[in-house]
Amino acid sequence: MAVYDTIGRTYAETRRPDPRIDAAIRRALGGARSVVNVGAGAGSYEPPETVLAVEPSAVMIAQRPAGLAPAVQATAEAIPLADGAVDAALAVLTIHHWPDLGRGFAEMRRVARRIVVLTWDPGMAREFWLSAEYLPDDAVEWDAARCPALETVTRLIGPGAEATPVPVPHDCTDGFFGAFWRRPEAYLDPVVRAGISNLARFGDALAPALDRLAADLESGVWHRRHAGLLGLDELDLGYRIVAGRT
Ligand SMILES: C[S@@+](CC[C@H](N)C(=O)[O-])C[C@H]1O[C@@H](n2cnc3c(N)ncnc32)[C@H](O)[C@@H]1O
Repeated sequence: MAVYDTIGRTYAETRRPDPRIDAAIRRALGGARSVVNVGAGAGSYEPPETVLAVEPSAVMIAQRPAGLAPAVQATAEAIPLADGAVDAALAVLTIHHWPDLGRGFAEMRRVARRIVVLTWDPGMAREFWLSAEYLPDDAVEWDAARCPALETVTRLIGPGAEATPVPVPHDCTDGFFGAFWRRPEAYLDPVVRAGISNLARFGDALAPALDRLAADLESGVWHRRHAGLLGLDELDLGYRIVAGRT
């Protein structure tokens, strides 16, 4: 069973595409008229120009709203398209799940003329207060270890690939790991955690960390320590769009 057959059950409840992140992805796609969405999940951020969604999890495919592009149950490592079939390959918050990153990128280069990836810089793993102050080391390191370095991603896309920061809005509607940086209570909600792969994976092992967060919120310690964050509208937590021509 694909990991997302478990995580995916409540995914659509908390992972609604954020319009500001959507706009950044569309800018990076640069007018592509045909797109393959790789690791497409339930179809967040899928542009209307998408001709095929590639997704291994049947549970995620079942959550795709009607009217989106056809989805095929397949992986990045074997994209069922002919060479040069599309203008762009899009991969949103998915490359850290691929068992064979080199093969997945080779496939995107084979089928598309442009590659656009939304990913996270593992070099910033301890910039986020939840990781730095609460989560156990193994949970922080698990995420950082499976996210490829930005240099690896740019190298795999090819010469000229560039990484652009994607700051997280304070009211981000897409409940990924960093989305609730200014809404700390959200991490106490099991439905929120169920939509975030590293928090879902560590499950009950996070109980002491979450108890400490709850206590710090209750006592005001968190708010005193993070007063500077409360006036910010967006924050760079290491999310990056890496894009380039193949
Ligand atoms: C965090 S979700 C992101 C889904 C969607 N792109 C989004 O932004 O909502 C990661 C997705 O990657 C998929 N995935 C896992 N392994 C994959 C692989 N080898 N090739 C393609 N997709 C994969 C998962 O099934 C899951 O749907």
